[in-house]
Amino acid sequence: MSIKTIGRRQFMGGLALGTAGLLAYPTKVLGANDRVRVGMIGAGGRGQELLRWVSAVPNVQVVAVADIYKRRHDEARSIVPALQAYDDHRRLLDVKDIDAVLIASPLHWHARHLLDTLAAGKDLYCEKTMTWSIQEAEQCLAAAKSSRQVVAVGLQHESSGTLADAKQWIKQGLPGKITQVEAWMGRNTPHGQGQWVRPVPADCIAGHVRWDAFLNGRSARAFDAYKFINWRLFWEFSGGNVTENMVHQIAWITTALELDLPTSAYMSGGVFSEKDGREVPDTIAVTVNYPNDVVVLWRSVFNNSHYGLGEQFLGSDGTIEHLSGVTDMVTGKSASAVYLYPEKTNRPNGAALTGESKDQNHMANFIDCVRSRKPPNAPVEVGYRSAVAGHMANLAYRTRKVVTLEEARSTLPPM
Ligand SMILES: NC(=O)c1ccc[n+]([C@@H]2O[C@H](COP(=O)([O-])OP(=O)(O)OC[C@H]3O[C@@H](n4cnc5c(N)ncnc54)[C@H](O)[C@@H]3O)[C@@H](O)[C@H]2O)c1
Repeated sequence: MSIKTIGRRQFMGGLALGTAGLLAYPTKVLGANDRVRVGMIGAGGRGQELLRWVSAVPNVQVVAVADIYKRRHDEARSIVPALQAYDDHRRLLDVKDIDAVLIASPLHWHARHLLDTLAAGKDLYCEKTMTWSIQEAEQCLAAAKSSRQVVAVGLQHESSGTLADAKQWIKQGLPGKITQVEAWMGRNTPHGQGQWVRPVPADCIAGHVRWDAFLNGRSARAFDAYKFINWRLFWEFSGGNVTENMVHQIAWITTALELDLPTSAYMSGGVFSEKDGREVPDTIAVTVNYPNDVVVLWRSVFNNSHYGLGEQFLGSDGTIEHLSGVTDMVTGKSASAVYLYPEKTNRPNGAALTGESKDQNHMANFIDCVRSRKPPNAPVEVGYRSAVAGHMANLAYRTRKVVTLEEARSTLPPM
């Protein structure tokens, strides 16, 4: 594995973008009740969920999809029948009256799709993780900030009631000084079936896929249907479970605590559960250090789901516990909630609290912002800081050493 150190300027050349051109496009001003016309890039598993979700938001019309695999055009039309379908995202971006674009392509395409959408003067909702590398994340942040477009990231837990409650409790000082957050996420699959592995559809053949377009600058090779469908398992296209799942929890934690970028990260683990040819680890222990005396731990396995997903914020005056999908040992019920437990030492008379705020509809929030021009619940800054933390952890895993922010910024992820 070769690690490449780069100058910032050198990397930026790789994802050429006329940022100067970003402001050239006038943003169509929509009234509070105007119909929002939406396009989608990447209509696979998540893209089809987003199509259903956005179609349910009042006064939205999905007009087009772009996907390099023919099958997805038919699948998208089975959800929104009158769609225009393209096999090149640039044709979709040429459509003048599309106001907003949803991006649900594989990770290694997010930055290109995000930058091209901004350059076309359209608002966008980009699935997490915002980018495949830190260098791309920096370029996307800069481009978004110098544009007038609304940029939302598919970190839907940023719209959750549990996060609103945790933020409120922290603002009120109820947990006192929080120095550590322990977070975890566990899944399981039947023996012999690796997490995430998808069967290759019979029609997934070279003639139905624009394979060269999929590679996006990765070394040229013959069509590989398995990698095309199971891109998540390979570093060239993916960031593994850190960019699939840790990113949601890091976003949640850093929003709750108002943390910015980590100072350093370390990650250990490996491919231990199902040795099925995947490159990205299934067993993970991450330590992310933040300024202001906070360390975040994240552990994850793919061979045990007993504890589901959660975070524990450990403070001098109280503990905030956010649980999701954890099976209660006594009742067998699955819990999803946020709690505050006072510490007897420093808040002996404090009461235990259970969060009561309702979730907001994350997609409806994006569409509202397209009309109001307000910042969305998961803006580009959250996409950026969660992407940077994840990429630092992955770089640490792949180099087997603690990685500082400075090192990570100047090191391209190995392919
Ligand atoms: N927010 C969430 O909870 C959540 C959940 C699932 C997936 N996701 C994210 O959604 C993204 C997509 O995941 P998925 O499971 O749908 O993957 P997928 O492989 O099912 O879908 C990706 C689609 O993009 C298409 N594609 C590939 N390259 C393209 C290109 N250059 N232009 C246009 N289309 C292209 C593929 O043909 C495919 O249809 C990932 O970033 C993933 O992390 C987010």
